[in-house]
Amino acid sequence: MTRAAVLAGVGSYLPPRRVTNDDLAAAMDTSDSWIRTRTGIRQRFFASEGMATSDLAVEAGAQALKSAGETTADAVVVATMTPDRPCPGTAPTVATRLGLGGAMAFDINAVCTGFVYGLATAQGLITAGTAERVLLIGAETHSSVLNPDDRSTSVIFGDGAGGVLLRAGEADELGALGPTVLGSDGEGADLITVRAGGSRQRLSGSPPGPADHYFAMQGRAVFWHAVTRMAESCRAVLERAGRRLDEVDRLVSHQANLRIINHLADELGVPRDRALVNIDRVGNTGAASIPIALAEADAEGVLRAGEHVLLTAFGGGLTWGSTVLTWPGLQRT
Ligand code: COA
Repeated sequence: MTRAAVLAGVGSYLPPRRVTNDDLAAAMDTSDSWIRTRTGIRQRFFASEGMATSDLAVEAGAQALKSAGETTADAVVVATMTPDRPCPGTAPTVATRLGLGGAMAFDINAVCTGFVYGLATAQGLITAGTAERVLLIGAETHSSVLNPDDRSTSVIFGDGAGGVLLRAGEADELGALGPTVLGSDGEGADLITVRAGGSRQRLSGSPPGPADHYFAMQGRAVFWHAVTRMAESCRAVLERAGRRLDEVDRLVSHQANLRIINHLADELGVPRDRALVNIDRVGNTGAASIPIALAEADAEGVLRAGEHVLLTAFGGGLTWGSTVLTWPGLQRT
């Protein structure tokens, strides 16, 4: 019997402030039709005043625990590029607020690939015997770093959190994580950035440039990197898992842009209707996007027990990664 990490629960949380494309068009030079045709996004949710990433993460984590029928976890991992503070990590706060104080808790920053990197990390903790249960949460408060003067990024990103509870089990169980393929390319580090606030460009001393504490992205360059890298890693992970593309029932890619999701499906030869899409309702929620999509699709009965699911993400760094699992039958919460 081979020890494996088994997905046992999912949860998600979207903050209450719904922002439509028309709301954005009232504040900047853009339009509902531009945003819908270029990105597929109709609306997104933003955290209310005073709400931080840990507040979103706690809600999603509580749901994931409940869905798994668990009250404890040995590890809490938060994937985020928008932590509550640069120091300390957000995960210890989340763990304590969930009543899991004492558990190991740390953050992962692999930008929009953070959740897939987190799955590999959780799998490693479980298969090594370091943990029996890992609560992995992707959470972002992008609204805290969006530049109101940059229409090319402000219209894309949303806030939210999604989480999964992974438990120790057997490799032949439904929900067991398969192999994971991860990669990075630091040559592209400047394509997706928040320039100031780290050790390279400090907030202390000489003041940063006027927009350097905001998120910035070279969208067009990122677009094709995203399609190419996700397609390559999907093929690599399927080969490692001994599965074929025509066996994929559900393609769950990072919700970066509807056109990226469609190009990826076409590139892989997976019918577009097998790709989960919720970017129209939530925007790009970064590290939270895959677990939010999983939680919503599970709650709606779109994901069914026994389906072969291919997960793939791409993000700043540059980073990318993919994994596979067979969807388990989860309790509805
Ligand atoms: N509203 C209206 N016009 C806009 C706009 C907006 N919100 N944002 C940009 N434009 C304009 C540009 O100024 C440009 O005008 P110009 O031709 O007069 O110079 C025009 O639209 C085209 O801009 P471009 O950036 O080339 O558009 P695009 O088709 O590449 O779409 C993105 C822009 C950002 C939507 C697209 O590149 C993208 O989605 N990239 C991937 C981003 C992503 O997913 N990142 C996360 C990865 S984890």
